Amino acid sequence: MGYVMFKRKNQNFNVLPTHLAIILDGNGRWAKRRGLKRTAGHKAGVVALKATIKNCFDLGIKVVSFYAFSTENWNRPKEEIDTIFSLVRDFVKNDLEEIYNYDVKVVASGDYTKFPADLVEELEKCFEKTKNGKTFILNLCINYGGRAEIVRAVNNIMQSGKKSVNEDEFSKFLYTADLPDPDFIIRTSGEQRLSNYMLWQCAYSEFYFPKICWPDFDKSELIKALNEYGKRNRRFGKIKEN
Ligand code: IPE
Ligand code: IPE
Ligand code: MG
Repeated sequence: MGYVMFKRKNQNFNVLPTHLAIILDGNGRWAKRRGLKRTAGHKAGVVALKATIKNCFDLGIKVVSFYAFSTENWNRPKEEIDTIFSLVRDFVKNDLEEIYNYDVKVVASGDYTKFPADLVEELEKCFEKTKNGKTFILNLCINYGGRAEIVRAVNNIMQSGKKSVNEDEFSKFLYTADLPDPDFIIRTSGEQRLSNYMLWQCAYSEFYFPKICWPDFDKSELIKALNEYGKRNRRFGKIKEN
């Protein structure tokens, strides 16, 4: 493709999540505290998003998901939604070019086809361009809702004519069919809820709720979070092994 493949740096983490999922929250509060409009917070949020993608790649994470627009976010004022769309459009058009160097595969979870047509086109160009990426997966969760995803799966199962499915088969009908479940879910801004995120996939995820707002989430915050993940004891219902 003509892109320079970047090499990952050596890192010292004992255990890294294979799939890190981030609920990027607090853009509005970040802006309000600075006397700015909420949209300025979303702008700053994109800067943090770009940096975090690079940091995840550098640190050796294989899959990173970002919850950037929920099915419930349509209930916000039109002006704010339009600003978010135009920021996502600029991000996909301009910023993802650099990310292509990471041998990345960009995918989406959520019905992004409900976005404006030109944005849908940009997104699909990006998915097509990166479809053979092997090193890193960037999953953009846009117009995503966990309940909508489950209902969509059930409808698709019924349409497929299947009479019953087991858990593994069910997972294959979700947006995340080709991804492992998230090992670690970070939500910034101090809120301690999922807000309809990865409801099926989070069954055994570890959670982390730093107080800082998303635009302030930098490399040191990511490393702090990953160190915390390294201390967790994931038992999956078994007895602790030491
Ligand atoms: C997260 O920041 C971005 C989106 C949900 C699109 P918010 O916009 O939710 O910021 P707060 O939570 O109001 O501070
Ligand atoms: C969750 O944040 C959705 C995204 C980050 C995209 P919200 O700000 O929309 O969630 P609530 O309304 O505080 O639960
Ligand atoms: Mg919020």
